[in-house]
Amino acid sequence: MKLEINGQVREVDVDPDMPLLWVLRDTLAMTGTKYGCGIAQCGACMVHVDGVATRACATPVGTLEGARITTIEGLGAQGQHPLQKAWIEAQVPQCGFCQSGQIMQAAALLQDKPKPSDADIDAAMAGNLCRCGTYQRIRDAIRRAAGA
Ligand code: FES
Ligand code: FES
Repeated sequence: MKLEINGQVREVDVDPDMPLLWVLRDTLAMTGTKYGCGIAQCGACMVHVDGVATRACATPVGTLEGARITTIEGLGAQGQHPLQKAWIEAQVPQCGFCQSGQIMQAAALLQDKPKPSDADIDAAMAGNLCRCGTYQRIRDAIRRAAGA
């Protein structure tokens, strides 16, 4: 099947039931999207499908023909996205494992609400877990990016 990922058409020969996360990481070697829980509970695998934050571990690839998929690699390839800059300024990551999912979730939030309130940020980010507890810095970075 053909998939549009980060503006490029990629052809993959996989079972349509395979989760997008497996296709990205194992078939296409795009390892920026992380495998945390595999059961739609942590947010580490967040990508955008037609601009909507979507958990790649729970999305069969067969449902995605004709959809526009964006991964962390496509958000700002040169690190120019306001969230990427804010993440560096606020020195958000600790181990880093959850962070691509956090940024993709935050990017979807700012697409919908360019000036989110703290309550908007809390609501949007509630499903993205960070075992290192970087939540305060994540919120700080989102506020910075929203003001940029
Ligand atoms: S790996 Fe997809 S939500 Fe945890
Ligand atoms: S930075 Fe380590 S899990 Fe979030």
